[in-house]
Amino acid sequence: MKISILGTGLLGSALAQRLLFAGNEVCVYNRTSAKAKALVKDGAIVAESVQEAINQSECTILMLADIDAINNVLFKKDIKSFYGKTIIQMGTISPAQSVQLNQALKELEGDYFECPVLGSRKEAISGNLILMAGSTPEQFNKWLNLLKMLGPNPQHIGGVGKAAAMKLALNHLIAAHAVAFSVSLGLIEKNGIDQDVFMGILRESALYASMYDKKLQNWKNREYANPNFPVKHLLKDVELVLHETQEKQINSEEVKALSHILQEAINHQLGDLDYSAVFNTINNI
Ligand SMILES: NC(=O)c1ccc[n+]([C@@H]2O[C@H](COP(=O)([O-])OP(=O)(O)OC[C@H]3O[C@@H](n4cnc5c(N)ncnc54)[C@H](OP(=O)(O)O)[C@@H]3O)[C@@H](O)[C@H]2O)c1
Repeated sequence: MKISILGTGLLGSALAQRLLFAGNEVCVYNRTSAKAKALVKDGAIVAESVQEAINQSECTILMLADIDAINNVLFKKDIKSFYGKTIIQMGTISPAQSVQLNQALKELEGDYFECPVLGSRKEAISGNLILMAGSTPEQFNKWLNLLKMLGPNPQHIGGVGKAAAMKLALNHLIAAHAVAFSVSLGLIEKNGIDQDVFMGILRESALYASMYDKKLQNWKNREYANPNFPVKHLLKDVELVLHETQEKQINSEEVKALSHILQEAINHQLGDLDYSAVFNTINNI
């Protein structure tokens, strides 16, 4: 299969590697071209322009930071038409942004659907992402073989916007768990209790989430470099959740607090570090 990817940052580069490993022809474009060129050694073809990347393949995956990045990349003046091309949006954006994108691409004769993913670089490279499609059933069936190269069990959630909403609901839990665990671990440390005893009891309880162990070494060592998912993107997602909760008249006080804490982490220069760095903000380190 010939696939193009727009955006070869942390996750886009991992998707490219996975799709190349699975035997596909992969064409990549990135605003900062050095990040696209770094994939040449894995077999990727680098497009000089967005239009060239779109022309190369029937299907183009978007793995860009946010809606501003998407608009900047997709709707430049030199792109005239998306006729006959399918655009699969895999970054984290809001349901409303995704619906608007669908409309804009339809007007340019493109075929659009969303398929946000849960999981990070490790899961992408090993083909173990959780994929959630917001599309027509026909689009989902048409591209299922491609989606299965990235994760074993892609799920059709509903029409455009539904998978974006599902992704926000899940990412809210990333922020909530990271913040809540940071408070609890802080309490343990500051009371001079053995962390291993705490973890042992937690693992046996109904309160345990596997992300606690996944990030435990980061928290123990206060080491947040080489992020898979940085604080700045988690804040972007929490802001989208905040907007959604307010629009849907869900009490948003907890989400406001998460947003405030993540913003504070960014103010303390932690924005480009792994999201587990929020521990330092919570515990005044
Ligand atoms: N990392 C994860 O674990 C993970 C997991 C699930 C979902 N996501 C979501 O997937 C998306 C990508 O995440 P990532 O971790 O790969 O982010 P990243 O490493 O920051 O990459 C962001 C990409 O967007 C491009 N970009 C940013 N602003 C732009 C602009 N104004 N114009 C053009 N291009 C722009 C960047 O280009 P440059 O290289 O030129 O800056 C880069 O290609 C985000 O929506 C994120 O929330 C991430």
